[in-house]
Amino acid sequence: MKIALSQAVALIEQGHVVAVPTETVYGLAARVHDAEAVQEIFKIKGRPSDNPLIVHISRVSQLQHLVKKLPPHFAKLKKFWPGPLTLVMPVKKRAVHESVRAGLNTLAVRMPKHDLMLRLIDRVGPLAAPSGNRSGRPSPTSRQHVEADLGKKFPVLDGGICQRGVESTVIAVHEKNWELLRAGALSAEEIQRVLRLPQKIPSQKTVRSPGQKYRHYAPEARLVLCANADLLKKKLKSCDAVLGFSDSLHGRLPLISLGPKKSPKQNLRRLYACLRKLDAQSFSRVAVDTSFVKTGLGATLLERLHKAALR
Ligand code: TXA
Ligand code: MG
Repeated sequence: MKIALSQAVALIEQGHVVAVPTETVYGLAARVHDAEAVQEIFKIKGRPSDNPLIVHISRVSQLQHLVKKLPPHFAKLKKFWPGPLTLVMPVKKRAVHESVRAGLNTLAVRMPKHDLMLRLIDRVGPLAAPSGNRSGRPSPTSRQHVEADLGKKFPVLDGGICQRGVESTVIAVHEKNWELLRAGALSAEEIQRVLRLPQKIPSQKTVRSPGQKYRHYAPEARLVLCANADLLKKKLKSCDAVLGFSDSLHGRLPLISLGPKKSPKQNLRRLYACLRKLDAQSFSRVAVDTSFVKTGLGATLLERLHKAALR
């Protein structure tokens, strides 16, 4: 249910959870100290309690109340805020309810690039907000997606369709290197251009971002990833739809279009809506065209498609 900014302020101040817009995906928001509302977020999502939430701020000055110190090279990274970059920093433990940080001694923080959300945070203070899907569903990129998951009556501050359509990039920054904890709407290359430090490649075993260990959304349909045109052509015979590009080969099968192939930003913006469409149209086997460039935002697109293809 669409609500106005003033209603969102009132509901959050009364301890309710509200769905909020950001430039990446819609979130489910509560104040960082509000134990009951934060618990309610975990309950609504069906989220495991060891998976911490991202805290959203509207001003850099709010950081001093949340974290013990800024990450190294913050002066350079600040350029990405507001925007889809989440930084993991040592938390001031009493600054947020324990369940927000899931017992860790770090906190993930970002400043979203969405005017309505920034105005909301200015009014009610920093907000803990995971993506607004039920666990195991694609993140919502419109009010309609939130309502499809949580019901028509769930209060949503409607900020239109999310500009980026995929979650923020989560990183940890050290003096001499930095780690990519979750690929997202800001490419590793863009971060690298600004930081100019080596990227630390994690060993397969370490899970630095708890969310990465959980099963992610996979549509009902079996996804068949095809890395080149020959393979795609072959697989089309046994599939009933194609998840691909408006300007590329897809035979006579129905096309669920990610937009033109050379526009990874647009492809990501459409991705979650396309995955929801696959279920809505009850396809059983879908060929996915992955013959796109895998660097930059292409790497994020490939990572999400791999996860959606996992059984
Ligand atoms: O774009 C986004 O980041 C969206 C919007 C709403 O801001 N939020 C979002 O939240 O994607 P969520 O909860 O779906 O994903 C947060 C990710 C999870 O993988 C979680 O494990 C990780 O961030 N995370 C949170 N706190 C962390 C911490 N202290 N250290 C490492 N990873 C952390
Ligand atoms: Mg999520």
